[in-house]
Amino acid sequence: MASCWACLRPVDDDGRYHPACLRNVFGVARVPAIDVELAKLHTFALAMVGHTSLSGVQRKISMRLEKESRTLLVATEGGQFILKPQAQTFPALPENEHVSMRIAERVGIQIPPCALLELKDGSRAYLVRRFDRVSGRKLLQEDFCQLAMKSPKDKYQGSAELCAKLVLRYATAPLIEAERLFRLLVFAWWTGNGDMHLKNFSLLRGEDGNYRLSPAYDLVCTRLVIKGDELALPIGGTKRIGRRRLLALATQCQLPTRVAERALQDHAAATADVIDLIRACLLPDEMKREFVDLIRSRAAILSR
Ligand SMILES: Nc1ncnc2c1ncn2[C@@H]1O[C@H](COP(=O)(O)OP(=O)(O)OP(=O)(O)O)[C@@H](O)[C@H]1O
Ligand SMILES: [Mg+2]
Ligand SMILES: [Zn+2]
Repeated sequence: MASCWACLRPVDDDGRYHPACLRNVFGVARVPAIDVELAKLHTFALAMVGHTSLSGVQRKISMRLEKESRTLLVATEGGQFILKPQAQTFPALPENEHVSMRIAERVGIQIPPCALLELKDGSRAYLVRRFDRVSGRKLLQEDFCQLAMKSPKDKYQGSAELCAKLVLRYATAPLIEAERLFRLLVFAWWTGNGDMHLKNFSLLRGEDGNYRLSPAYDLVCTRLVIKGDELALPIGGTKRIGRRRLLALATQCQLPTRVAERALQDHAAATADVIDLIRACLLPDEMKREFVDLIRSRAAILSR
């Protein structure tokens, strides 16, 4: 049985997506047409540097859905979606990001609606809905580089403890957001993510004026491509992580030990389901095997 390109659960071979999954991403139960080809995407992405609030090194395109023609168009401003095509230097990046997001969702991390899409040239791209746009208005979003008043080029000059400090200082409900941050940091380590730098965490001001950790974004298992890749930000001054380090980080987040223990246990307990997600995802088989091995061995550390 094939897997849904949105939720990764089984779907009829001729379906590719569940109608409900399409509605969740696009608001309608039909796959939109897409007006760009991979060959042109690079030019578009370059043309948009400086034009949109998107930054980062991977090429990505801001898109909007035109309701009448049901077509996804490149948007120079006011885009509702971000599209990330295949990258030359990082094999299967869209598939990797997509399954990483679905795993995050499985362990209770908030994610925006997202799916894989087939481009005109047959390649797959990752599409995610923007969480900083509500009925055409832009919500205020500040990444942790900005909050720490560092320049974007210093996005690796930080630590998990700095992230904790920023959340405790600026979030409206500090302890609730500190627990969410702790879970995201545990998740990043568990899933071999070596690129969670300061710009990959943000606070988002909701319509109610409250500052919360934004839904997760840019989650990738970098170890599948960069062998032995370590964390982007150290925990307790090191990138060699075990249970004790994680529990010490929880203390920095001002979380009671039982809350931290439960977070670690929740990840370990999800292992079988997460392995099912990896097996169902669209990564090449060799990468699936490596990902499963990583998840298993780190789950053992979490539940020790
Ligand atoms: N779903 C989303 N909604 C709103 N803003 C988003 C979303 N996803 C990402 N962003 C914003 O766009 C920026 C770039 O996105 P993202 O981190 O996914 O791209 P990237 O090119 O992989 O970044 P880098 O390689 O620099 O980490 C993020 O830092 C974040 O501020
Ligand atoms: Mg990023
Ligand atoms: Zn689905």
